[in-house]
Amino acid sequence: MLSSRSAIAWVVVIAALILLRVAVPAGTEEPDPATSRVPLPEISRGQGEFCVEDTDFMRRNHMNLLMHQRDETVQQGIRESKHSLKECISCHAIPGPDSIALTVASPKHFCRSCHDYAAVKIDCFDCHASRPPPGDVPDGHGEALVGASTE
Ligand code: HEC
Ligand code: HEC
Ligand code: HEC
Repeated sequence: MLSSRSAIAWVVVIAALILLRVAVPAGTEEPDPATSRVPLPEISRGQGEFCVEDTDFMRRNHMNLLMHQRDETVQQGIRESKHSLKECISCHAIPGPDSIALTVASPKHFCRSCHDYAAVKIDCFDCHASRPPPGDVPDGHGEALVGASTE
């Protein structure tokens, strides 16, 4: 026999599960990691309000933009662009516990937060800094981030 207390607890759990199914019909909405029944990545939210392109486009195509930008820079010397890796890193910087931007050594680093989940491995940060140099973060967001940028 269940005690009445644990019977109530079960009713609450079952009701919550039913509500979740009703609230998140499959395929109709953006899945929310907090309510989804399948594990989803918790993608870190960086600085700034908008990405350099539409967010959904960025999810699918950021690698192509980066590769294209790299070729333009390395082969043609074109540096100023909104698709620069440096800009991604500075706008997507995540402040660590000590207010210093996290490097890719942290699983919360923006790029890793998603790549770990998707089992994607990139070597870009062998050479490129994974956090912005001190002061090089978007206006109004710099105060919280003091970064030495050798990693
Ligand atoms: C000026 C700030 C800024 C810059 C520069 C920037 N982003 Fe973003 N990015 C954002 C913001 C803000 C979002 C979330 C937008 C939203 O929630 O709709 C985002 C979203 C994304 C997403 C989707 C994340 C998700 O939650 O699914 C990816 C991938 C991404 N950015 C990659 C990049 C890459 C790669 C670069 C460099 C080429 C870059 N971003 C440059 C601000 C920026
Ligand atoms: C062996 C070292 C090395 C690796 C690994 C590497 N890069 Fe680079 N990358 C460079 C150098 C050097 C430049 C030229 C920097 C300059 O001229 O400003 C560059 C330039 C770039 C640029 C243009 C400058 C900028 O900040 O936007 C992009 C974009 C870029 N790389 C993306 C990538 C991506 C994405 C990866 C991983 C897939 C990667 N790189 C891996 C060395 C490397
Ligand atoms: C919203 C999730 C997400 C975020 C955030 C994200 N990526 Fe990716 N990235 C992916 C996925 C998924 C792939 C694999 C795509 C494929 O294989 O078609 C990928 C692939 C790549 C590749 C190509 C790797 C290869 O070997 O083909 C590069 C380069 C890359 N991402 C760079 C970055 C950088 C730099 C950041 C942070 C500024 C970042 N990504 C943030 C999901 C993400």
